[in-house]
Amino acid sequence: MHVDLLIRNVRLATLSTKVDAPYGTIDEGLLAVKDGTIAWVGAASEAPRFDSKVELDGAKAWLTPGLIDCHTHLVFAGNRADEFEKRLQGVSYEQIAKKGGGILSTVRATRAASEEELLSSALVRLARLQGEGVTTVEIKSGYGLDEETELRMLRVARELERRVPVTISTTFLGAHALPPEFENNDDYIDFICETILPKLGKEKLCDAVDVFCEGIGFSLEQSGKVFEKACALGLPIKAHAEQLSDLGGAALVAQYRGLSADHLEYLKAEDVAVLKKANAVAVLLPAAFYFLNEKQVPPIQALRDAKVPMAVATDCNPGSAPIASLLTAMNQSCVLFGLTPEEALTGVTRHAAQALNLANQKGVLEAGKDADLVLWEINHPNELSYGINLTKPSRIWFGGNDVSRS
Ligand code: NIG
Ligand code: FE
Repeated sequence: MHVDLLIRNVRLATLSTKVDAPYGTIDEGLLAVKDGTIAWVGAASEAPRFDSKVELDGAKAWLTPGLIDCHTHLVFAGNRADEFEKRLQGVSYEQIAKKGGGILSTVRATRAASEEELLSSALVRLARLQGEGVTTVEIKSGYGLDEETELRMLRVARELERRVPVTISTTFLGAHALPPEFENNDDYIDFICETILPKLGKEKLCDAVDVFCEGIGFSLEQSGKVFEKACALGLPIKAHAEQLSDLGGAALVAQYRGLSADHLEYLKAEDVAVLKKANAVAVLLPAAFYFLNEKQVPPIQALRDAKVPMAVATDCNPGSAPIASLLTAMNQSCVLFGLTPEEALTGVTRHAAQALNLANQKGVLEAGKDADLVLWEINHPNELSYGINLTKPSRIWFGGNDVSRS
């Protein structure tokens, strides 16, 4: 068989459920790429004969799927280092938000920034993620809160995909905070549903719709209204749920057959089964937990027992998670939340793909999937969760193209 790229002599962490071994490991592996997708993957001893334009001896390094950061707010202007200082003097994240700081301070900076400014600052953060082997990134709007800026953020997110060899999945998070032009949440939610969402649906600027279902965000009823409209437009939904308190946002996601419920520190036991039943992903964001110095850990053991798919993401944003390192988030998920390194790696590959509705294309090394691949000179995939800034990929392929130096 004629292929474009043949990688021999590698250890494969396929993360595939079809391979019955930890990490879906195939020790003496071989992987062939044709037309940007994985044409064949498996044990070298079982491989058919290939002739290839390009061949690589992996020298027993480990090959994993490209990593997927399934929850970020990567496009924004400014930073919130001043609030970081205030918090260290004893003012809480919620108090800062109530005084018009927090998300609204980033909204002011983002509204004032041009498309070029937003693009160039996001490119810096995206390059950091990409350099760690991240080949798919979800990016939310939500620092505009008016039609013009929300659309600008989403356009910038789409443009990033043209500039960097990564897949970008965009999410509309209009229901992130109440903008100053509106007196109450209900009027703003009506504006989102009647004005912005129909426009986004038409222009295909977002792949999903998110809400901040929280005391300092939007109520269950308001979140439900947004979901109702998103579903009518055929857009999948997800939510920031149970981050600082338990409003029941995760169960609402389940009710609307959403892709994921994210954060979940305050998720109650009975809602774990509800998530499982709806096959929704629990997206864990340990960097936000770390940076806000939270104390309540998500119910990991209950999620694990119920076999709810758990993903791990950076939540990269200026307020609660100023971090552009998915490998660090993996480490934090293990140290702070008690995930195993295998759960952490599954959380940034197979389960992260599911959280973005991309499970058919990405997240595992299986024939037919996109050839987004990362080669690591490590002795075991647990090293990806173990060190902080110790491990970097030695090669990265995006859609079968070597993009190691992009
Ligand atoms: O995921 N919780 C809401 N949104 C972000 C934080 C946004 C901000 O503080 O700017 C989060 O933590
Ligand atoms: Fe977030």
